[in-house]
Order: sequence, then C-alpha cells, then structure tokens
Amino acid sequence: MFRKPYRKSSSALFAGLVSAGMAFCLMTAMSSAQDAGFEPSVEDFSCIRDMESVRGFFVTNLLGDIEATLEVANSETGGTYPTGSLIQLVPTEAMVKREPGYNPLTNDWEFFELDVSNGETHIRVRGSDEVVNQFGGNCLECHARAEPQWDMVCEQDHGCDPLPLTPAMLSAIQKTDPRCEATELTEEEAQALQFLAAIRAASEN
Ligand code: HEC
Repeated sequence: MFRKPYRKSSSALFAGLVSAGMAFCLMTAMSSAQDAGFEPSVEDFSCIRDMESVRGFFVTNLLGDIEATLEVANSETGGTYPTGSLIQLVPTEAMVKREPGYNPLTNDWEFFELDVSNGETHIRVRGSDEVVNQFGGNCLECHARAEPQWDMVCEQDHGCDPLPLTPAMLSAIQKTDPRCEATELTEEEAQALQFLAAIRAASEN
C-alpha cells in the first residue's frame, strides 16, 4: 500500500523529467538553429548591381555583416567567407555561405541556379555538391579547384579552369540583369551580347 503510490509518483516524476528534458532539448535545438543557421529564400536575390562590386563580381551579406564579407573578398591572402555571404558573377548563378556544418564538402556554400528572365527571381536549382548549371556543369566540381585559401571562390587566378566569357561579355550580362533598371551598354558590350545571343541560337538549333 505504501509502495504503489510511491512508485506511481516516481514514474510520474520520471515522465515529467523526461518531457521537461525533451522540451529543453527541443528548445535548445531550435534556438541554436536560429543562431547558427538560416535558410536563404528567393526574396534574398535581386538586381545583381545593388550588391557591392569587387573586382568584377558582386557580394553582400544576407545576415547584415557586409564588413566581414568584404574583408575576406578584399584580403590578398584569402580567408573563409562568413555565414550569410552571397556572391554572384552573373544574375543566374549564386553562392551563399550557410551555417557551419551545412556541408563540409562545399565549405558550407549553397549553390543556386536562378531564373531571372521575366524580371523576377525564381530558384531553378539549389543545394550543395549535386547542383548542376544549365550547361550541365557541376558547380562544386569547378569551384573546388580553387586553392584552399580562396574558399572555393574562383575569380581568374585562384586555380579553377577559366570560363569562356570575356570581361565585356560579363559586364554586359551584369548590366542587362532584367531585375535592374536599364543602363547603357558600351559598343563593345553590345557586340559581346550579340555574340552570346548568336552562340545561344546556334546551340539551340
Ligand atoms: C566550368 C566550371 C564552372 C562551373 C560548372 C560553374 N562555375 Fe562558377 N565560376 C567558374 C569560374 C572559373 C569563375 C570565375 C570567372 C571569372 O571571374 O572570370 C566562376 C565564378 C563564379 C562566381 C563568382 C565568384 C567566383 O568564384 O569567382 C559564382 C558566385 C559562381 N561562379 C557560382 C556558380 C554556381 C552557383 C554554379 C552552378 C550552378 C557554377 N558557378 C558553376 C567556374 C565554374
């Protein structure tokens, strides 16, 4: 007679502790996900030229720490881009530095292929080591060739195989991002765009 209520209350106490413990774990898991992780969304992408220009590409920080992102981008010895960094060379491709542990294979970069053709951003593909661009190229395969101090950012001299795009083609592509206000092209940029359009038409035939 003594033991029964005792046992009952101890198991009730135990159950109470377990559920309090679980609630605590859940709460800490949730708050650490809020602290360390973030999920970039389609609203995070807009006119490429609204970001900070660095040597021909553009950067920003989706968590607000643009200084930390620029510090790495402008460092002569490289470094690890901080969480929240967004980098773009062309309007349709982007890489975002996710929280530590997101994917060690990609140094925690998430790769995006975007469709901006109607003046709005749509995410075509996103992810880590499996993302392939519209030409069938795996983002990571090329970007992993950058020497380690450059954190998978290729530019022209970090060890990646070069892209078949001239500086005039790149600036023309950046200037004609359909999400930006119209801006004038130089003669050379206009020719570069015509050339790109001709190649595209030929490859579609
Ligand atoms: C064929 C190899 C190749 C593939 C595939 C590729 N890239 Fe790149 N990417 C490069 C090179 C090389 C540069 C630097 C070009 C330059 O600055 O002239 C670059 C530049 C960039 C940049 C600007 C920062 C930097 O690294 O210089 C971003 C962002 C980027 N690529 C994202 C992507 C994404 C996202 C994908 C996949 C959807 C992708 N790339 C696929 C080779 C590649």
